[in-house]
Amino acid sequence: MTRTFAGHRAAHAALALAIAGVVAACGGTDTAAIHSGADRSGGNTTSSAGLPGGHIAAGEKQSQVKGAATGQSCIDCHGADGNAPLDPSYPKLGGQYHDYLAHTLQLYRSGDRDHALMSNQARDLTDQQIADLAAYFASRPSQLRNLRGVHDR
Ligand code: HEC
Repeated sequence: MTRTFAGHRAAHAALALAIAGVVAACGGTDTAAIHSGADRSGGNTTSSAGLPGGHIAAGEKQSQVKGAATGQSCIDCHGADGNAPLDPSYPKLGGQYHDYLAHTLQLYRSGDRDHALMSNQARDLTDQQIADLAAYFASRPSQLRNLRGVHDR
């Protein structure tokens, strides 16, 4: 009885070590983005958790404002509801997770995620505008797809 119990404990310890290893590995790859200099000097957090609450109606208005850099709005490039992109290589935004949208816009703003077209769009957005835009596009119908079923054939 005692031996079985000890065996269990050993197994638990091994499992805990394995989990710790996985967590450490993930943390390692995240570190650069979270602590980038551009981000710190901008006073930004790269966690969407620090943002104010978003408003869908305000986000809808903001999505139609022409950006200074290209003279185009979010909708001009990503299409109505974020679901009709100007070019097939532009991502659909409708129904995407609010947190993902907000976090991604913060990364473009700080330069941690860089793209010739998109970074310019996000550079001057305030925390409130990011929260509103994320709320708006997340509220739109989703046309996003995952790989479910693709490997069943
Ligand atoms: C000039 C065209 C253009 C405009 C204007 C534009 N985008 Fe984009 N957007 C793109 C392109 C191209 C990408 C893909 C960039 C990449 O590969 O990183 C993108 C990517 C994104 C992503 C990442 C999506 C994902 O699945 O990872 C988000 C979020 C986004 N845009 C939101 C916005 C918002 C909000 C606005 C308005 C403030 C906006 N975009 C304005 C072209 C544009």
